[in-house]
This record gives sequence, structure tokens and C-alpha cells, in this order.
Amino acid sequence: MNKPLVFKTFAKYNAFRKNLKGTVGFVPTMGALHQGHAGLLKQSAAENDYTVLSIFVNPTQFNDPKDLEKYPRTFDADFDLAAACGVTAIFFPDHNEIYADKYQFIMTENNFSKILCGAFRPGHFNGVLSVVMKLFNMIKPTKAYFGEKDFQQLQLIENMVKAYFIPVEICRVKTLRDESGLALSSRNTRLSPPGREKAALIYKTLKSAPSAGEAKNSLNQSGFEVDYLEDIDGRRFVAAFLEGVRLIDNVTI
Ligand code: PAF
Repeated sequence: MNKPLVFKTFAKYNAFRKNLKGTVGFVPTMGALHQGHAGLLKQSAAENDYTVLSIFVNPTQFNDPKDLEKYPRTFDADFDLAAACGVTAIFFPDHNEIYADKYQFIMTENNFSKILCGAFRPGHFNGVLSVVMKLFNMIKPTKAYFGEKDFQQLQLIENMVKAYFIPVEICRVKTLRDESGLALSSRNTRLSPPGREKAALIYKTLKSAPSAGEAKNSLNQSGFEVDYLEDIDGRRFVAAFLEGVRLIDNVTI
């Protein structure tokens, strides 16, 4: 098992990138890696000559400062998981490396980013799209891998890549779930064991309820606080709080 190289600055990463001959797969993350990330990394490692993982807890996509503070930071475990998944290099920049412009330049989308999560988390997708644009320009990947759990994010990134002619192929990866059906997420670690069991209701309800309205009522009655539960273009989307943790999921209908 090869140990990944760790780059904290763009200058050092870029010097390394210039010498790579072949395809580069990229998995951008905020760390706290779980088996869902492992799936993305392994797919990238299988399909590319090199795989780059980035770990950066991006403050501009957190509209709630407490959520940012509580976001788990687990670099040592992330490093070991990356090594086990065949990652070549980890880009682990600090804030100034990414936001030397102090977030004076912002990538915005004016339609799909305003509904669902965008309606409840003002500025969230500006933060996501801005950091992903920066990371694509820094890492210069051939392909980049995103999970379908964050479907709205994935679709916005696909559309940004088209709109700005960014030479990156976006690869969709199916949501990984635990045995109960709960979508894997770094936030699940913040749930109590009974909370985690209850959280499995999200997926079950999304799949079985005859309508979005009924699914929403059923989750609210079970003790979730639903932000939204909507059917759009053949997909059912939900965001709901449980034990103060915001969980999202989606299924095709
Ligand atoms: O999905 C995530 O973890 C983040 O939104 C991303 C794409 C790494 C941008 O910070």
C-alpha cells in the first residue's frame, strides 16, 4: 500500500501535477471520510492513472457557524482510508491558500441553486460552486467524482462545468447506504445510536410514501423536523433535522 503524498500549498501541488503523465481522477471532500467516500476514491483509482483527494472544510458553504464548528475533522483516519483506497496525493490546503481573494469572487447560479437546500441555506451553493471552481483549476483533473446523495450539488456542478467549458468529466456515483438504508454521511456520526436507527426512516419513507406531502407528514410525525420534501423531475428530495443534525437524501420516483 503506497502512502499518499500530502500537499498543503497550490505551488507544491502544481509542481507535482506538471510531471504527471496520464489521467487524474479527483475526489473533492471536506474530510471525515466514510465508506461513501471510499467508493468514490476506489472508482477513481480504478479508472485513472492517479487519484487526488482534497480535504478542505469550506467555510463559505456553511450558513450556520455552529455547523461549521461541529464539522468533524479527522485527518489521520482520512489519511489511512485514502491510502487504503489507492490515493496518489492529498491536497490539504489552509484557508488562505483557497481564499487569498477573501471571497471577493463568487460563483453564482440563479435558478436550481435557489430551491431545495438553496432555499433553506442561503449562500450555500455559492460557497460550493466557488470552491469547486477553484479546486478544479488547481487540481486540473481529467475526471471528478461526486455522490448522488448530494444530487442538487452534483447537478449544479455538472451545469457549471458545461457553462464555463471546464475540461473535466463529472462522474456520478450512486449513494452508498448502510444496511438500514441510511445514506452514508459524515454527519451521521453526530447522531446517537437510537437516532441513527430512526434516521433510516428517511429512506424508507421517501421510497414508500405515495406522495411527497404524505412522506413529509409521516417524517414530521416521527419526530423529524422537515425543511423540505419535494418531487422534482422524477426525483424525491428531502432535508430533515434529527437531534439537531441536518440530513439530506433523494431517490428516483
Ligand atoms: O460534498 C462536499 O463534501 C462538498 O460540498 C465539496 C464538494 C467538497 C465542496 O466543499
